[in-house]
Amino acid sequence: MIENKHEPLIIARNVTKIYKTDKTRLKALANVHLDVMQGEFAAIVGTSGSGKSTLLSLLAGLEKPSAGRIMIGGRGIHRLNEEQLVDFRLKNTGFVFQSFNLFEVLTAQENVAFPLMAQGVGKAERMERAKLILNEYGLGRHLHHKPNELSGGEQQRVSIARAIIAEPKIIFADEPTGNLDSQTADIIIKSLADINKQKGTTILMVTHDMERVKYTDRIIKIADGMISEQEA
Ligand SMILES: Nc1ncnc2c1ncn2[C@@H]1O[C@H](COP(=O)(O)OP(=O)(O)O)[C@@H](O)[C@H]1O
Ligand SMILES: [Mg+2]
Repeated sequence: MIENKHEPLIIARNVTKIYKTDKTRLKALANVHLDVMQGEFAAIVGTSGSGKSTLLSLLAGLEKPSAGRIMIGGRGIHRLNEEQLVDFRLKNTGFVFQSFNLFEVLTAQENVAFPLMAQGVGKAERMERAKLILNEYGLGRHLHHKPNELSGGEQQRVSIARAIIAEPKIIFADEPTGNLDSQTADIIIKSLADINKQKGTTILMVTHDMERVKYTDRIIKIADGMISEQEA
């Protein structure tokens, strides 16, 4: 990824996403324009169904726009094929899914260690680094548990640990504190804010929770698939 401090890291232009089913055609995003600078920690807020998750998955290269352009680090990700997208995501991004998407057959520690494999980190070091983060997140007693042996909040923390372990340039987090009590939510948001400050990681976080946006640099409001307001 080419980084140019003077250009936004993420540029979305005229981005539209239409979901088609047999009978219906739903416009989840309509003509979205968005610039995100390198090192920003931005919150995306909006009511349920407003298009937050759709926007995040398009910007992360998990889904393709129906129309429009998405440039990340100077690269048009809307043009990449599936194989190129997988490679791009592994090398540059971490994603915290609203539904966690953990590997059910792997333990918490193995789930967290997983992204380091793509970076060629050896097994002993992968497992050690995963253990350190899980300890930090209060999950030291759950290293060997599989997702179905963990509560929603615990799975959520495993999913966040997995997204940050490989120190990606961009972290996309979809309601990362949705299942957490307020104290744990605070630990998680502060750890994202620390990563943002210390490593200059760009973070886009969907949240419902106005208590948490105080840690972010910026709030992007979305309504009916359109960005309605952006505050610096
Ligand atoms: N895979 C899909 N197929 C059809 N419709 C979808 C799909 N994903 C999302 N939608 C619809 O797109 C709209 C935006 O959804 P979403 O981005 O998940 O909203 P939010 O995250 O803000 O709650 C909703 O009306 C939702 O039902
Ligand atoms: Mg959502």
